[in-house]
Amino acid sequence: MKEKYNVGIIGATGMVGQRFAILLENHPWFNVTVLAASSRSAGKTYKEAVGERWFMDVPMPKSMENMIVKDADADINEIASSVDFVFCAVNMKKDEIKALEEKYAKAECPVMSNNSANRGVPDVPMIIPEVNADHAAVIETQRKRLGTKRGFISVKSNCSIQSYVPALSPLRKFGITDVLACTYQAISGAGKTFKTWPEMVDNIIPFIGGEEEKSEKEPLKVWGEIKDGVIVNAEKPSITTQCLRVPVSNGHFAAVFVRFENKPSMDEIKKIWKEYSGEPQALKLPSAPKQFLNYFEEDNMPQTTLHRNLENGMAISIGRLRPDTQYDYKFVCLSHNTLRGAAGGAVEMAELLCAKGYLD
Ligand SMILES: NC(=O)c1ccc[n+]([C@@H]2O[C@H](COP(=O)([O-])OP(=O)(O)OC[C@H]3O[C@@H](n4cnc5c(N)ncnc54)[C@H](OP(=O)(O)O)[C@@H]3O)[C@@H](O)[C@H]2O)c1
Repeated sequence: MKEKYNVGIIGATGMVGQRFAILLENHPWFNVTVLAASSRSAGKTYKEAVGERWFMDVPMPKSMENMIVKDADADINEIASSVDFVFCAVNMKKDEIKALEEKYAKAECPVMSNNSANRGVPDVPMIIPEVNADHAAVIETQRKRLGTKRGFISVKSNCSIQSYVPALSPLRKFGITDVLACTYQAISGAGKTFKTWPEMVDNIIPFIGGEEEKSEKEPLKVWGEIKDGVIVNAEKPSITTQCLRVPVSNGHFAAVFVRFENKPSMDEIKKIWKEYSGEPQALKLPSAPKQFLNYFEEDNMPQTTLHRNLENGMAISIGRLRPDTQYDYKFVCLSHNTLRGAAGGAVEMAELLCAKGYLD
C-alpha cells in the first residue's frame, strides 16, 4: 500500500459528491486532488460551481473551495493520469454513465461507483464490504475483458437494501426462503432537501422509479457466488418489496418479514447480529464501524433522528424482532442513505480494495 492515494470525485457538485468531499477532507489514506462535474460546472471554482446547492450541514472543505472543477467527460485523460482512482456519483442517463465509467477504467483509472449503470454486469463486483468482500476477486476477469492492467469498475449497491441485506446476511445459513421488505426512504436519496422539494413536507409519495426492482434483484447479486471468474446471482430467497418516499431528510428505514427453512430462535438471531463482523472490522479500515449490526431492545427503537448517525452513519440499527403470523419473524432496520448507503459505503469499499492491493 502507498502512504497516500490521490483521488478524484466525479459528480463532485451533487448531493453524493458533496458527501464524498466531506468524508475525504481528512481521510488518512486518500487525498482529493481532482473535482469534476458536467461541462456546466467545468472551469469554475468548486465554490462557484456549487453555488446555492451546498446541501451538507457542515461547511465546504476550505481546501476544496478554490479547486477548479474539471469536465468529467472531456478531461478524462488528464484526470485519469493525475489520480490513483476516482469516486463517481453522477446524474446522467444509464448508458452514458456506463460509457463514462468504462472510459475511466480503460484509461487505467479504477472507478468506485455509486451509480446503478454497471451493477448488473457479472464481472463488476457490487460490494457491501462487511458482507461480500470476496467478490473483489472478479476484478481480474473484468480487467481481462476491458484489456486493462489497473483499471476496473467496482460498484456499491442501492441505498434501499443497505439496512436489510446486512441484517439478513448472517441469517442465510438458516435457509432464508422468503423476504418481504417495505422501505421508507429519505428525500436525500433523490438528491433533494425540503427546500428543493417542498411537496415532500407532510407528505408520502408511494413511488420511487426503479427502486423496487433494484431492491428485489440486488440482494441476489450481493449473495451470489463466484463461478468461472464471474458472479452468479443467488437463486433464493424470493424477495418482494414496496418502496415509499417519506418526509425525512436522511435515513432509510425498512420493515422486514422473513421466512426460513430452519427457523432459528429470536435469541439466536440477536446473538448472531451482535457477534457479526466482516473483513472491514478485521482489517480495521478507517471507515468501518466497530459494531456493524446494532440491535435495540426498546419497542420504540431504533429511530431515524437518534440512530442514523451511529458510528458516523456507517452502522446498521435493528429493532422490534418478533414472531409474525404469516412469516416466521418481522423486524425493522435503519441505515443512513447517503453515508452507509452512498458515499460512506463507497469510501469503505475503496479502503477495502486498497487494503487488498487492487488500487496499487
Ligand atoms: N442521493 C443518494 O442518497 C444516492 C444514494 C445512492 C446512489 N446515488 C446515485 O448517485 C448518483 C448521483 O446522485 P446525486 O443524488 O448526488 O445526484 P445530484 O445531486 O443530481 O448530482 C449529480 C452530479 O452529476 C453531475 N452531472 C450531471 N450531468 C453530467 C454530465 N453530463 N457529465 C458529468 N457530470 C454530470 C452533476 O454536475 P453539475 O452540477 O455540473 O450538473 C452533479 O455533480 C446517481 O446515480 C444516484 O442514483 C444517490
